[in-house]
Amino acid sequence: SNKSKVTVVGSGNWGSVAAKLIASNALKLPSFHDEVRMWVFEETLSNGEKLSEVINQTNENVKYLPGVKLGKNVVADPDLEHAVRDANMLVFVTPHQFMEGICKRLVGKIKKEAEAISLIKGMEVKMEGPCMISTLISEKLGINCCVLMGANIANEIAEEKFSEATVGYRGNKEIADRWVQLFNHPYFIVSAVQDVEGVELCGTLKNVVAIAAGFVDGLEMGNNTKAAIMRIGLREMKAFSKLLFSSVNDSTFFESCGVADIITTCLGGRNRKCAEAFARHGGKRTFDELEAEMLQGQKLQGVSTAKEVYEVLRHRGWLELFPLFTTVHEICSGRLPPSAIVETVK
Ligand code: NAD
Ligand code: 13P
Repeated sequence: SNKSKVTVVGSGNWGSVAAKLIASNALKLPSFHDEVRMWVFEETLSNGEKLSEVINQTNENVKYLPGVKLGKNVVADPDLEHAVRDANMLVFVTPHQFMEGICKRLVGKIKKEAEAISLIKGMEVKMEGPCMISTLISEKLGINCCVLMGANIANEIAEEKFSEATVGYRGNKEIADRWVQLFNHPYFIVSAVQDVEGVELCGTLKNVVAIAAGFVDGLEMGNNTKAAIMRIGLREMKAFSKLLFSSVNDSTFFESCGVADIITTCLGGRNRKCAEAFARHGGKRTFDELEAEMLQGQKLQGVSTAKEVYEVLRHRGWLELFPLFTTVHEICSGRLPPSAIVETVK
């Protein structure tokens, strides 16, 4: 048949919610196979059971999304190659630091005509310069890759509360429309814009701003200060994106992936939460410790993204142009105290 088979590569907090959303649509839409495969990075739970087996028995990701049924048509698969083998549509959603290794393992293992989309917020920095995750996927696997980003705190979407998202695509509107079809839902309204780099950089860079907002919360500086940090952060996001890719559109920053994601992440995200704790402890506890303690296996993207952005800025001689981005990294790495976040952007 010519029904599309979808595989979700990743099964963390957002990965599990994305699988649930897609599975609900796949059941309703005749042009998709009912079954949605979800690759699970296998782990043994504290009771000795395997996570993938528990997901298939209970229909719940008990570790990363407890209490939420994924839908009976979600099948957890711990074998990466097997999970992607028959897929026409690949949805990538893992913490960004694991994608290079995953891509290496997938070379030669996927269908040639497969289409991909990345829900991953983050980037890699190489000798040659920054590499967005959708580009990594595209180049390593030789396939087209769209992105989906937005104001999307996974636990809220799991409860089917209304939100919006943005698909970024390169040239092919038909493929973008296919992704919109797969994700769009009455509680999840998706629009597509022809600006892959802009959408992906919004999703990536807002995590750095969220760390800054968390510092402000930890220092109890109040709402005006936090709003100022969000505004300055958004301005740096736009300037940085346009310096890297002159094609980036101003209007992208007004989509869900831009201003809306800044707001939700700075109010309710994990990066914000851990950065608040970091500032409360006066920088005396590391982010690695706080992440392990507060997030139970979920991963922060903002701290490593701040380092990656810093490397790009330093390499290109742009550090002074981006005081907020620069200072976030200097605070995370212990070179400046959390209070520097407001001092340096004045
Ligand atoms: P997560 O933060 O829950 O991370 C945990 C996942 O990482 C688990 O599936 C775990 O198995 C996996 N993992 C751990 N070690 C691994 C390894 N060595 N190799 C491969 N996988 C390993 O993940 P998430 O929330 O699904 O986030 C994925 C991406 O989605 C990130 O880029 C994040 O920024 C983005 N995102 C998250 C949310 C959210 O609210 N959680 C919302 C929007 C976007
Ligand atoms: P955190 O990773 O900071 O929780 O942000 C989630 C997110 O990307 C919301 O859109």
